[in-house]
Amino acid sequence: MARCRALVRPALVEAVGRLHPWTGEMAAYALGWADPAGTPDPTGSEGKGVRQALALLGAEAVGADGAEAVPGAVAVELVHTFSLLHDDIMDADALRRQRPAVWKEYGTGPAVLAGDALLAQAVAVLAEAPGRHTGAAVRRLCGTLNDLVSGQAEDLRFEDRPWHGPGAVSPDQYRSMAEHKTGALLGCALALGAVLGGAPDRTVTALDRAGRHLGLAFQAVDDVLGIWGDPAVTGKPVHADLRRGKKTYPVLVALAGGGEVAHELVTLLSSGRPVDGEAAELVAALVEEAGGRAATRDEARRHLDAARRVLRETPLEPTAARRLDALFAHLLDRTW
Ligand code: IPE
Ligand code: MG
Ligand code: MG
Repeated sequence: MARCRALVRPALVEAVGRLHPWTGEMAAYALGWADPAGTPDPTGSEGKGVRQALALLGAEAVGADGAEAVPGAVAVELVHTFSLLHDDIMDADALRRQRPAVWKEYGTGPAVLAGDALLAQAVAVLAEAPGRHTGAAVRRLCGTLNDLVSGQAEDLRFEDRPWHGPGAVSPDQYRSMAEHKTGALLGCALALGAVLGGAPDRTVTALDRAGRHLGLAFQAVDDVLGIWGDPAVTGKPVHADLRRGKKTYPVLVALAGGGEVAHELVTLLSSGRPVDGEAAELVAALVEEAGGRAATRDEARRHLDAARRVLRETPLEPTAARRLDALFAHLLDRTW
């Protein structure tokens, strides 16, 4: 991860440097490079850097030089940062990576604009990449952006759906939402590396599928951390998903099991009372008691296994494939 970060960093700095100074300042804050005054901040969290590593390893896995994937790695990191900026506004989450979210620090309008700037720059960086594969890479990124927007749309619409009865969100509907909002970008990161490395379509498609499974595993873990994570470690507020009525996997699967605890849970969630403080603690305990936490770990494990299986079944350069496999496995054990 450190090697990938070092390889991508100069191009990422250059891309952010091309932004309007004000949006660039907000971008540097969001990327953990600077404090709100624009002063370099060595304590800022830059995030895990998973997507840029996937792009580089995707290229290496198809026998290309990782450097060929740098424009793809920059594009996916910028899209990721943009999506988090806007996501925190949509989710009304005030905290990201242990600091005030961009909209809290700078205001909602400026944060929307900073996200737009990052998105535009992501597409520009990729469109300007040298080589024969630029068109295919840009088309892939645009497809991913459409998926991401669909996933966010589903996620927001699910907030107003009931917890039980005919309008309830099914686990399969949840999976579709999570694949779009999270899986698409992880799949894109891997696939972009392969596209820029000149891989055949079959390999690109396989890597995209592996990344989507990884995304589903990643989101399941994210859902668990949103209920039982330590905010001091995740850098995000705890119970925010419960407060907003987010249809996360642990709750859905706890309810789907039926039984007495599930009934108590439905009553609590559908009461119209705020799911905050002690009520949120109680919901978390009931979800756990009904098996929602364990089932979500199983769900994450299933998708991780599926992702690793795709890797094994695809002809790839062995060293890069091993590194990818290790990165995949590491993501299941993450605590932030
Ligand atoms: C974020 O989903 C997905 C995108 C930004 C597209 P979540 O809302 O579940 O993620 P966190 O928990 O805020 O990071
Ligand atoms: Mg969110
Ligand atoms: Mg969200």
